[in-house]
Amino acid sequence: MMQEPRLALIGFGNVGQGFTRILRDRGDDIAQRFGVRFRIVAVCDLLKGSVYNSAGLSPGDLLASIEAHGDLSGVTASETSWDALATIERSDADALVEISYTDLETGEPALTHIKAALGRGMHVVTTNKGPVALFYPALRKLAAENDVRIGLEGTVLSGTPALRLGLDVLNAASIRSVEGIFNGTTNYILTRMEQGATYAEALAEAQDKGYAEADPTGDVEGHDAAGKVVILSNVLMDAPITIADVEREGITGLTPEDIEAARAEGKRWKLIGRVARTAQGVSASVKPVMLPVEHPLASVSGATNAILYETEVLGSVTLSGPGAGREETGYALLSDLLAIYT
Ligand code: HSE
Repeated sequence: MMQEPRLALIGFGNVGQGFTRILRDRGDDIAQRFGVRFRIVAVCDLLKGSVYNSAGLSPGDLLASIEAHGDLSGVTASETSWDALATIERSDADALVEISYTDLETGEPALTHIKAALGRGMHVVTTNKGPVALFYPALRKLAAENDVRIGLEGTVLSGTPALRLGLDVLNAASIRSVEGIFNGTTNYILTRMEQGATYAEALAEAQDKGYAEADPTGDVEGHDAAGKVVILSNVLMDAPITIADVEREGITGLTPEDIEAARAEGKRWKLIGRVARTAQGVSASVKPVMLPVEHPLASVSGATNAILYETEVLGSVTLSGPGAGREETGYALLSDLLAIYT
């Protein structure tokens, strides 16, 4: 029998629109292949408006309204005034898709949304790094107490299945350490600087292409990557560290001379995030590292991300793929939802 989970989306920026586009274009195929037809019943966005319709909102109509008006005013809806909490409380949705903006200092407002949904027995899928990096153990506990699931694949490497590979496939191989390129903006900047661009030019390009956070300080000073290292430590190593436990250095101290000196030695600078088991627990860091060109992470260029697992049974396993992007991140939400409903 076809399942028809009702979804409430909080946030309708790039990721929400990417996810909705996937449902618009692939919804029939997903229903046919997996027996699940996802129904968006509510969307609430601080800037674009709020719409609810118990029978469901058409993904095509949601996207057409954004295209035509830049907001949700063109969508036919029975409610248009609910805020995020009213949407969670009154939409009778089975799952919350939490994709409001990320705040790595407080996790809000997403934290409040996620707690409200879990407390009501709704599943939650999110790509929001703030609440997960700051409060994963408490959120996992709250989900278990309410017999629901929380999916967070898109918080690290967007739709590239970095967390799932570690959790589902490599867990029994005993993961000793996880390291990788967890920020597309900085990897793009370093790649462009190797090609002769200045730091300022390369950063401006990364902003133009939409890789950078609203405030790129979070990227270039390593905060974004540090948040992902914390998530990896909590989720894959069961080591509940916080952002303050991550030794952090960004790329702003690297000069064109440093980059040239690395090239002369047959090496490349990469901003490497790492978490490794130690006798005391784990050690965690984000810092520029000069890698020999034959290292599996050295050839990962541009905005691409990569993760390298060091395991006892298999040795090292590396996965690379997109780390950001509308549909790339939207796909993580779909894969989390399918993991819950199939
Ligand atoms: N600003 C981030 C990056 C986006 O450059 O990787 C994905 O978290």
